[in-house]
Amino acid sequence: MIGKDLLQLRGMPRETITEILDTAEQMREVGRRKVKKVPPLRGRLVVTLFFENSTRTKTSFELAAKRLSADTLSFNVNTSSTTKGETLMDTARTIYAMQPDAVVVRHACAGAPHLLARNFPWRVLNAGDGIHEHPSQGLLDMLTIRDKFGSLEGRTVAIVGDVQHSRVARSNIWGLTTMGARVIVAGPGTMCRAELSGLPVEMRHTIDEVVRDADVIMLLRIQHERLGRGVLPSAREYATFYGLDLARLRMAGPDVMVMHPGPINRGVEIGADVADSAQSVILDQVTNGIAVRMALLYLLLGSDSPGAGALHAAD
Ligand code: CP
Repeated sequence: MIGKDLLQLRGMPRETITEILDTAEQMREVGRRKVKKVPPLRGRLVVTLFFENSTRTKTSFELAAKRLSADTLSFNVNTSSTTKGETLMDTARTIYAMQPDAVVVRHACAGAPHLLARNFPWRVLNAGDGIHEHPSQGLLDMLTIRDKFGSLEGRTVAIVGDVQHSRVARSNIWGLTTMGARVIVAGPGTMCRAELSGLPVEMRHTIDEVVRDADVIMLLRIQHERLGRGVLPSAREYATFYGLDLARLRMAGPDVMVMHPGPINRGVEIGADVADSAQSVILDQVTNGIAVRMALLYLLLGSDSPGAGALHAAD
């Protein structure tokens, strides 16, 4: 059972992750139909409340809600009264007065979605909070890995780069290890520090050490918006020591899968030829994001809706 909200993958039981991924597989089938719409959330209102920019997460949550026949309301922080000094809680009270059923929240402060979940009876889906977690990204990544390998159990996933400041890395680390995968990490000392040893990961010093052992290589964007000064000498130096180019990719097994949550920086953490290679599943991750977010909205909101269970085409 998924519970009231989706806030983090840390502590989420294996059975719940499996239920979400299995439901996402059914939802993906809806996306392959000519009429990509089913009725389970007809009449429900889903609000996307993004205090940080997004291309993938916001659009795919909105598309997921629409495919389940929910109404959507998109809150644009740059044109909102947040710019006039309205607080997060007052903004939330205002949105809540419009009677939404679920709110999808992205915020620079870790814990902001938890605050909104504690203080309002709506369903909250964390779309990324500071450096804490990005649970729907972790789930879509796990679905993409499961698609190729059948199971996550026993797979070795290498996460390379700015692990320290990455909510994507944290959600993946908790989710993947719950599902029986092994996670190895590597990155510059300022982005992959000893504190990470509190997480269930094995730390390596160089990208070459993790590439050789990996079934999956997950590259991370440098989180410039969360970095202090002096953390990174230059993008060129980063690419030299930690970027995945074709020469490094050849050190991995022929079936290795290359992932990136996006947005990618070609020539920094990933070479353009690697991003466009046959091993890259970056755009499959995007497609799976819609299915996973449909599954999450369906499991959180669908069971008490009039159209619950109906995955036939909406009229
Ligand atoms: N992966 C991810 O969160 O991308 P966006 O910032 O574009 O949503």
